[in-house]
Amino acid sequence: MNKVFGILLVGFSAALFNSNSIASVSVEEAIQKRIEMFKASKANIKKLRELIRADDTTEAAKLLDFHLKWSEEMPLLFPPGSEASTSNGSDASSDIWDDPIGFKNVIKQYNLKSKELRKSLRGADSASINETFESFAGACKACHKQFRN
Ligand code: HEC
Repeated sequence: MNKVFGILLVGFSAALFNSNSIASVSVEEAIQKRIEMFKASKANIKKLRELIRADDTTEAAKLLDFHLKWSEEMPLLFPPGSEASTSNGSDASSDIWDDPIGFKNVIKQYNLKSKELRKSLRGADSASINETFESFAGACKACHKQFRN
């Protein structure tokens, strides 16, 4: 892909996300967008860990908005036909489409753990915040183990 086209694509996907038209994206756009979201998720969780270490629970709680939104929108970015292939750059396991209920359940867990952590950050002591954080991070790993190649 040439550079100009690459830049155009990045701008285009940013516009897509902003316009809330996430439900009508093509397979290629869905893959590109979800990889972007997972990268943002990784950066977010790193920041979250730092804020928790620094005991800045107010700022940390705000970062959970991303995870709540993403855990609700995630299914829209896994349209049929978007599993990993040799040409599409995706690592999504075909088990996502073979076991849709299982996939839905791990997304649900991610959603619940995000809510639990936000609640904990808004009130709990640091010992239980650490515990809830680990359990939240475990929701990422559980899904990867089962549904990422
Ligand atoms: C419900 C399942 C699920 C959950 C929950 C989940 N992931 Fe993933 N993740 C995936 C799948 C599937 C892929 C592969 C997507 C693709 O390549 O099309 C992926 C890919 C990634 C990638 C690689 C992106 C790249 O560069 O290609 C990162 C980083 C990542 N996830 C981080 C996270 C973090 C951090 C969390 C938790 C906050 C999380 N994920 C939660 C399913 C999940």
